[in-house]
Amino acid sequence: MKVLVTGGAGFIGSFIVEEIIKLGWEPIVVDDLSTGNLSFVPKNTPFYNIDIRSQSLEQVFRMHNPQVVIHQAAQVSVEFSSRQPFTDCEINTLGTLNILKLCAKYKVSKLVYASSAAVYGIAKEVPITENHSVLPISFYGLSKYSAEQYIHLYQQLYGLNYTILRYSNVYGMRQNMHSEAGVVSIFVNKAIKEQQLTVYGDGNQTRDFVFVRDVAKANIQAVTYMGNETFNISTNQPVALNELIAVLQQSLSQPLEIIYADPRAGDIKDSYLSYARAKQLLKWEPQIAFETGINETVEYYQSLVRN
Ligand SMILES: NC(=O)c1ccc[n+]([C@@H]2O[C@H](COP(=O)([O-])OP(=O)(O)OC[C@H]3O[C@@H](n4cnc5c(N)ncnc54)[C@H](O)[C@@H]3O)[C@@H](O)[C@H]2O)c1
Repeated sequence: MKVLVTGGAGFIGSFIVEEIIKLGWEPIVVDDLSTGNLSFVPKNTPFYNIDIRSQSLEQVFRMHNPQVVIHQAAQVSVEFSSRQPFTDCEINTLGTLNILKLCAKYKVSKLVYASSAAVYGIAKEVPITENHSVLPISFYGLSKYSAEQYIHLYQQLYGLNYTILRYSNVYGMRQNMHSEAGVVSIFVNKAIKEQQLTVYGDGNQTRDFVFVRDVAKANIQAVTYMGNETFNISTNQPVALNELIAVLQQSLSQPLEIIYADPRAGDIKDSYLSYARAKQLLKWEPQIAFETGINETVEYYQSLVRN
């Protein structure tokens, strides 16, 4: 099966490509390398350095005729989206629309879309389920949600099947430090270089950290899932930043130097998401314990420093 992965040179996309290869399917990667890295793309994988907004994307559909498109490419920074909302919208919403147009034209049988917990905005109740109100508080959350709405309409108008996956905070190896949930990679990188870690606020704010390999597997489950659905991909576990620091200290067997600074405006205090729907319908649940995922992440970044 030919599977086009947009953003396949990125953090999450490159792990999806690895899973596709393990299954004997054929990945094709489109990525403009704005935050991705060509070295993350396995050798012999067809790779196209193309912007998802561009007309030339059609060449890839014409040449490969993929049955499935897994769409990960995006502008992923909340902070960038507040400075450059037009560019954020062009990449995340219009870029997705360009992909939808081509999926319909080339009769793609399934689109899997990487959405985000950012679509929910401030949690009214936790755990957040897929029925929680959607009220983004960032342009990034809005552009991801607008793309979801285009996907729904393409399904209704043109019968394009989809699965939307709303990830919580993804962490693990190969994460770009500037990405949406970079706190783990920032802390791990600073910790192994014995630099101070800055915590904004008292460190009791929580996040729902899901490991990148688990997220890649959710995408694979979504490829063969019949039905057009939206799923949270998460752990249902709130982890405080102070707990993350404690796990890191244990993993590195060394005390860390922490500075507590004023909380940042707009930072969400607590958030975690239920994955009950994904467990029931997608037959997916996270497999990797937080400590195990952190250990693997630490080992990865330590090996980069050594080499
Ligand atoms: N990391 C998280 O915690 C998280 C949480 C929720 C949702 N997501 C979503 O997951 C997806 C993957 O994010 P990631 O964390 O792997 O980030 P990433 O930055 O590592 O991956 C994004 C990839 O898309 C590519 N890209 C960006 N703009 C492009 C464009 N215009 N044309 C072609 N390629 C382009 C980048 O070069 C990069 O390789 C994104 O859609 C993001 O919104 C991530």
